[in-house]
Amino acid sequence: MTKLTCEDTFLIKRRDLKNNYFSYVFRPYSRAVRCKPGNFVHIRLASSDVYFRRAMSVASVNPDREEIEIIFKIFGRGTALLAGCRRHAPVNILGPLGNAFSFPRKNEKAIIVGGGVGFPPLLFLASEMIRKGYPPGDIEFFYGGRRSGEIVERVRIRRLGVNLRPVTDDGSYGRKGLVTEAVEDYVRKHAGERMRLYGCGPAAMLKAMDDLGMKYHLPGQLSLEAPMPCGIGVCLGCVVPLRKGGHARVCRDGPVFNIGEVLL
Ligand SMILES: Cc1cc2nc3c(=O)[nH]c(=O)nc-3n(C[C@H](O)[C@H](O)[C@H](O)COP(=O)(O)OP(=O)(O)OC[C@H]3O[C@@H](n4cnc5c(N)ncnc54)[C@H](O)[C@@H]3O)c2cc1C
Ligand code: FES
Repeated sequence: MTKLTCEDTFLIKRRDLKNNYFSYVFRPYSRAVRCKPGNFVHIRLASSDVYFRRAMSVASVNPDREEIEIIFKIFGRGTALLAGCRRHAPVNILGPLGNAFSFPRKNEKAIIVGGGVGFPPLLFLASEMIRKGYPPGDIEFFYGGRRSGEIVERVRIRRLGVNLRPVTDDGSYGRKGLVTEAVEDYVRKHAGERMRLYGCGPAAMLKAMDDLGMKYHLPGQLSLEAPMPCGIGVCLGCVVPLRKGGHARVCRDGPVFNIGEVLL
């Protein structure tokens, strides 16, 4: 079993990505080198207003500088408090936690699908794939949001060289509609090609991705969210039902699960 470690670190870079999205870089985080795409960290907020840590996916790392990045959106009290942190604020991080995405086989296209604030672990996945030598042109990065402003870090994603395919509910940026409709059209058009799906986003999007994977017999993985009081597999606050029966802990057995594995 991997040793669980908490580390005190500092917020050294704070970017306001607009529309309530923020990118935070913490340093020094000695375990940055251990972070893999799909892993998350559990962040303790220095406030008596919130009791539980908040789970945040790792969005990028710079192991040489012992840096780790998270990207989050203000949702409720915890993330509002986090957004109020100033540069040099101390933060306690538990992690990295959870399992990681498996990389595609060399002959498979990666169909990456991020919905809203689900995109950070997928940004890390795409960056790591490219670092490992996967051709960026073999990565389709579907990114869905309500409106244009919700598609953040688009320049950064494009700079990776991947095929960014934005989709917005109102059509204000990219294709109009649901991101999963765009994915299904792509899958149909490229029938016969080897593809692997990756998804992270709202529950309805993950369910649609799961259905799509099973319908077209495509392998893939989905990163799930659940309430996470402990984050280390002890409290059972994050369990989800499995299709084969029984349950799994999202924090410990996930957050990444194979398509068809969890009853969504
Ligand atoms: C694996 C994983 C990765 C995630 N990655 C990201 C990410 O990259 N970016 C991002 O923006 N969000 C991410 N989230 C969601 C994030 O952790 C917050 O829970 C979410 O944004 C709620 O925000 P909040 O704390 O502001 O909400 P709040 O309103 O403060 O909390 C929402 C509700 O959940 C309860 N709650 C909050 N935390 C816990 C907990 N630990 N255990 C039990 N109950 C709790 C609160 O009491 C409240 O009722 C991730 C979640 C998981 C599980
Ligand atoms: S959060 Fe406690 S078991 Fe998963």
